[in-house]
Amino acid sequence: MADFPLAPGSTLGVLGGGQLGRMLALAAARLSFDVVILTPELDSCASRVAARTLLAEFNDEQALKALASAADVITFEFENVPAGVVETLERLGVAVAPGARSLAVSQDRVEEKTFLNACRAATVDFAAIDSAADISAALDRLGAPALLKTRREGYDGKGQTWVESHADAEAAFARIGGVPAILEARAEFARELSVIAARGRNGEVVAYPLGENHHENGILRRTRAPAIVSSHVQEQAEAIAARVLIGLDYVGVAGIELFEFEDGRLLVNEIAPRVHNSGHWTLDGCEVDQFEQHVRAIAGWPLGPVAALAQVEMENLIGAEIDRWPALIGEADARLWLYGKDEARDGRKMGHINRMRPLERG
Ligand SMILES: Nc1ncnc2c1ncn2[C@@H]1O[C@H](COP(=O)(O)OP(=O)(O)O)[C@@H](O)[C@H]1O
Ligand SMILES: [Mg+2]
Repeated sequence: MADFPLAPGSTLGVLGGGQLGRMLALAAARLSFDVVILTPELDSCASRVAARTLLAEFNDEQALKALASAADVITFEFENVPAGVVETLERLGVAVAPGARSLAVSQDRVEEKTFLNACRAATVDFAAIDSAADISAALDRLGAPALLKTRREGYDGKGQTWVESHADAEAAFARIGGVPAILEARAEFARELSVIAARGRNGEVVAYPLGENHHENGILRRTRAPAIVSSHVQEQAEAIAARVLIGLDYVGVAGIELFEFEDGRLLVNEIAPRVHNSGHWTLDGCEVDQFEQHVRAIAGWPLGPVAALAQVEMENLIGAEIDRWPALIGEADARLWLYGKDEARDGRKMGHINRMRPLERG
């Protein structure tokens, strides 16, 4: 195992080659760390800014061995890497952060909500679903409509469907492909918020100011941060973040999605064991952004300051919206981040723009 703190010039391994890996690699380079990417994707957008790429499936034993011997610490930018991969890497004697447990918990929505409730981070009521009959049985307790989600591998609202009534149970189960699922009570939230938090190797926890998130078609459209919230809400979010990160013995940055209710109560929606799209505002709104923060945490460096320096509105550029770049690049008080993906497929995150204005005090 590597000695922490890692010395400048050390190597970080990253599982996944998407935009989060790209921005991690850019941040790592600023601190003199080299990044090796493991991805099955040819010419991935992270590879383009990394020192090296291992082009292989995540569970390719040879590639994992090569990664373990090249890297002083390994992390991931994509939480659906098979859990066995992290265990293999740990067996090969390389540090992985966050660890296998964080990954396993956040990969399965039932495990995730069970863990959250056990560490006093409340969620909506839910039931584990293995059949249409389970849906019918749970619907009386949870109320209709209720939201049916695949336990595993959903993202950007994929693998979800509303169950309107008992009569809809069979069809709803078929709509998500008849796979193991979770049925969730409908949250009648006032707003969606998220907290980006980090835990260092010394156990220190920090939380950025909250972001207010707006989704369209299941995809994050924009984040406004710092969100104007009561001190009660900010304190609850910080307490939730601390309980979750300590409960997972977490090292690194995590994104925690929250529902805020009219009365100021917060429920946790889900945890992402990685840097998070709703934290992109920190790139231009904070001294130390979420990517550098993650690098610092996994390298065993002290965490950096998380206070906001500006009010930021982050807008995702999805699919063909990227064609607006000539106008966006000329905008005043804004910074454009482009991910270097060649094909602007529907629903694909191609870049984002951060629009800045002076800080408001909530
Ligand atoms: N129980 C719920 N009640 C109401 N809306 C929900 C509920 N769960 C999720 N949603 C809505 O669906 C969106 C996507 O769900 P989420 O669980 O975050 O899945 P994903 O992994 O696709 O992001 C949430 O941001 C929220 O707007
Ligand atoms: Mg989500």
